[in-house]
Amino acid sequence: MDIEREIAERAKDIEQRINKYMPKESGMQQTVLDAMSYSIFAGGKRLRPMMMEAAYGMFGGTDRELIEPFMAAIEMIHTYSLVHDDLPAMDNDDYRRGKETTHKHFGEAMGILAGDALLNYAYETIAAALCKAEGGQKQDAIQAFAVLAKKAGVYGMVGGQTVDVESEKKQTVDAGRLDFIYRLKTGALMEAALMTGAVLAGASSDDVSMMEQAGTKLGMAFQIADDVLDETSTQEVLGKPVGSDSRNQKMTYVALEGIDKAKEEVARLSEEAVAVLDGFTGEHTFLRELFLYLIHRKR
Ligand code: IPE
Ligand code: IPE
Ligand code: MG
Ligand code: MG
Ligand code: MG
Repeated sequence: MDIEREIAERAKDIEQRINKYMPKESGMQQTVLDAMSYSIFAGGKRLRPMMMEAAYGMFGGTDRELIEPFMAAIEMIHTYSLVHDDLPAMDNDDYRRGKETTHKHFGEAMGILAGDALLNYAYETIAAALCKAEGGQKQDAIQAFAVLAKKAGVYGMVGGQTVDVESEKKQTVDAGRLDFIYRLKTGALMEAALMTGAVLAGASSDDVSMMEQAGTKLGMAFQIADDVLDETSTQEVLGKPVGSDSRNQKMTYVALEGIDKAKEEVARLSEEAVAVLDGFTGEHTFLRELFLYLIHRKR
């Protein structure tokens, strides 16, 4: 498998499918609708919906119509998290996904509102899917919704972002606190992607817990790699500014252990995530290769 090509093709396909779930850009509130569309179609990697769909297939799921609204929803939630993460009150970054950040382009009020609207629209999209689902799929969809909502919230991404901003300018880096930040701010949505895919395919609760563990490890690795790239890459390649973490005096794994140790940790955690996947008999070649590919990702 040419993994790079496979990832690019899947990302393109996912983008077209997400598009079907986005609201029309018309009406008196058009500005916020334009800002939503601007931020979501700026060109993200679409990893979370990609992982969700791969997990769904791994547990035997075949109904594209069931999983699609959840794929769109997780990308809306992830995109909102980025729009708010870039705001002046948070990381104060001007560039994202190769374009000006939403608040730079549309103003701060629209940055806040576009984030709010994306988060809410994610739930509107899922609510519509729940109304439509029938039979056993309805219960799976309700459970998937519960997982996604929790992982996005105060016990997930929002909780991690809270401790992240509160840990700026701290002189001493505390490994337990760092672990909490990474597991929640980044790990939680990765966990949600793998877990909801499994839940929608009717996986057992033990299997869903294993997928959660794979997501935790992959998410930690992904965030450490993000911190490494913040120091070693360029804005042209990343599509977002470099040096943001040191400017904000963030508590990061790179600040704590240095670049080399950080890179080793990315590989170690990713391989552990792969080992969890390998405990399953379901077809997971793509997911496995994706995890390994991300160790050396350039953006
Ligand atoms: C960026 O996530 C935020 C982190 C969790 C590090 P991605 O690197 O997946 O961003 P996009 O979606 O490709 O823009
Ligand atoms: C953000 O971490 C994780 C989110 C929940 C948005 P970062 O602040 O490091 O993400 P980037 O580097 O801005 O994408
Ligand atoms: Mg941040
Ligand atoms: Mg940031
Ligand atoms: Mg970063």
